[in-house]
Amino acid sequence: MTNTAPSTAGAEHAPGAGDFAARTQQIAKVYGRGDAQVVALDAVTVGIPRGRFTAIMGPSGSGKSTLMHCMAGLDSVDSGQVLIGDTELTRLKDKQLTRLRRDKIGFIFQAFNLVPTLTALENITLPMDIAGRKADKEWLDAVIDTVGLRPRLKHRPTELSGGQQQRVACARALASRPEIIFADEPTGNLDSRSGAEVLGFLRDSVRRMGQTIVMVTHDPSAAAYADQVLFLSDGQIVDTMTEPTAERVLERMKGFDAGGHNTRPASTPESGVSAR
Ligand SMILES: Nc1ncnc2c1ncn2[C@@H]1O[C@H](COP(=O)(O)OP(=O)(O)O)[C@@H](O)[C@H]1O
Ligand SMILES: [Mg+2]
Repeated sequence: MTNTAPSTAGAEHAPGAGDFAARTQQIAKVYGRGDAQVVALDAVTVGIPRGRFTAIMGPSGSGKSTLMHCMAGLDSVDSGQVLIGDTELTRLKDKQLTRLRRDKIGFIFQAFNLVPTLTALENITLPMDIAGRKADKEWLDAVIDTVGLRPRLKHRPTELSGGQQQRVACARALASRPEIIFADEPTGNLDSRSGAEVLGFLRDSVRRMGQTIVMVTHDPSAAAYADQVLFLSDGQIVDTMTEPTAERVLERMKGFDAGGHNTRPASTPESGVSAR
């Protein structure tokens, strides 16, 4: 794919009025040059509603991780704007960006990224300890109970199962009550039972605690835990689905060919699938 012409595809998924924890305006990201050029994001305009669980789905190579990394300020865009709340990331200097990431954003990755020499509890509070912030005791207690880690707080990561380690990573992301949590394939390294636990917990933190979560996944059953699903193909948002079920997500994913290209028009509201 070498086409760099700006496109208006995905404009129907553009955020209108509403309360968004994060937004992008026409963001583009191109890797490489000449023949090796890859358009990873092609004018993506999207809003992430506050207090909801949003999944980003799409075939491998469709730009899911790039979109997440650009929204989270882990990677820079070539053009366009990214906002977290009212703050335009794309205008921040490095130091300000680091601080914003630390104070307003939580991360959960496929690899748990825990510090092996620290206990579960120390891992959970580490980002706040580094920032010199005190954990809100009541909140921290609620988070620990929600992820079911109370009996494991003194264990080190090697003494925990994969599912427990990922729950520590979830608690770490939630502990500082960030504006938004970005999760990239958070259940990618887990068996289906542990994966279901982690997904159920992420959903609970949205429902009960009002957390905003964006999760990148290629697994329809994981996406079904979300309130809405955005579908990416070739670096563009090509569809949106609210109240997804694994069956409907799987059905929609069949609309991408072997190369990951979209073969269907965006769904219409009549089919129960609507752009928000
Ligand atoms: N650092 C990079 N250098 C070059 N190409 C990259 C880099 N990161 C991603 N890409 C390319 O950009 C496209 C989107 O990648 P990615 O966002 O990782 O997709 P996904 O997460 O949906 O699998 C792919 O074609 C990928 O090969
Ligand atoms: Mg990826």
